[in-house]
Amino acid sequence: MVVTGIPLYTLGDRVLDKSGGKKTVFASIGRAASVPSERMKQPLSLPPLDDRAFARALTAWYDRARRPLPFRETCDPYSIWISEIMLQQTQMERGVAYYRRWMQRFPDVGAVAAADEDTILAAWEGLGYYSRARNLHAAAKRIVSRFDGIFPRDVDDIRALPGVGEYTAGAIASIAFDLPVPAVDANVLRIFSRLFDIDVPVADRRVREAVSEAVRRGLDHARPRVFNQALMELGALVCGKAPRCGGCPVALFCLARERGTVAERPAGRVKTVYREVETAAGVIIRGGRVLVHKRPPGGVWPGLWEFPGGVVPDGETPESALVRIVRELYGMTVERGEKIGVFRHGYTTNRITMHGYYCRVAGSGSALGEAPEGAWMTSAELSGLAFASGHRKLLERLGWKQG
Ligand code: ADE
Repeated sequence: MVVTGIPLYTLGDRVLDKSGGKKTVFASIGRAASVPSERMKQPLSLPPLDDRAFARALTAWYDRARRPLPFRETCDPYSIWISEIMLQQTQMERGVAYYRRWMQRFPDVGAVAAADEDTILAAWEGLGYYSRARNLHAAAKRIVSRFDGIFPRDVDDIRALPGVGEYTAGAIASIAFDLPVPAVDANVLRIFSRLFDIDVPVADRRVREAVSEAVRRGLDHARPRVFNQALMELGALVCGKAPRCGGCPVALFCLARERGTVAERPAGRVKTVYREVETAAGVIIRGGRVLVHKRPPGGVWPGLWEFPGGVVPDGETPESALVRIVRELYGMTVERGEKIGVFRHGYTTNRITMHGYYCRVAGSGSALGEAPEGAWMTSAELSGLAFASGHRKLLERLGWKQG
């Protein structure tokens, strides 16, 4: 196999598919082609709901039950923005810990805009989905250059910031500025799928539109910042994937509860198919320094650091794949040393098993002319860089980085 460019796989390369035992190519899972029926083209019509009574019951419960989260002590848009971006794809406890640390390090938009990308990524390290951090950085620079460092108040301006989607724009506009803008995420879709017993999958655009409309009506009867956060809290504490209907403050309004279909809502969730990928990585030591490289822009984990290596193809051992890949990438022959360990991590729907080894440079080695991103660094230098997840675990095992 000829490997070109920067080391290690780019998801999109050939990988091992353990279930089929064949090499395969990463691709998004295709959807079956379908012709919409007449019913599917119509907007959804939802059953009636007493919006005022619903909003009252929901917000009264929120006042009693809400968790004392640090970003709830403020309406500062910068703080709300950071918390919302961090809480995407992140458990609350972890998000809160990172939020506190981040706010100490970067107390305002200007501090983010002034930092370099490695510093931003290092502060984000461990949270995953690093495009969030890169977008935050780009958005902070834009807020400084276009809005004099003052967070925009207009929902269209907020929505236009890098990394800010419809939900996040609604969350910031409502929580920070108390504007009546819906913030509809998977939690809110789940709540309303149950409330209205919606039998159409939430992936259907019409469900989102109908739910946004229902939220908009609810927003007429409460403070927007309270109503939207109350929905978020209900989704987190009560109306989760495993619902606790016994403690639900709006159970009386819930059609799915009345009809016994709560467990079937939201309708038609597609089961995620995971792929197993095997990789190998080498800690190549020469003269007290270790070879690492920065992943290129575009592709997977751009800007993060890692050890040389790559995907182990079907029929090859991790050890021989590692030696071969390093030779192909750097023109450098290495001898494999002791195994450091096996490190598991995930990337979207890929489950990656990475085998880590010590390596020595054999013979005279090579210049790194062909791989300009490669760098020989001391272990102290490595500890300040942001590493892709599996490689960070390897570093922690080596004791070169705090977990
Ligand atoms: N998830 C996203 N934003 C949240 C918030 N403000 N409160 C609780 N959970 C959230």
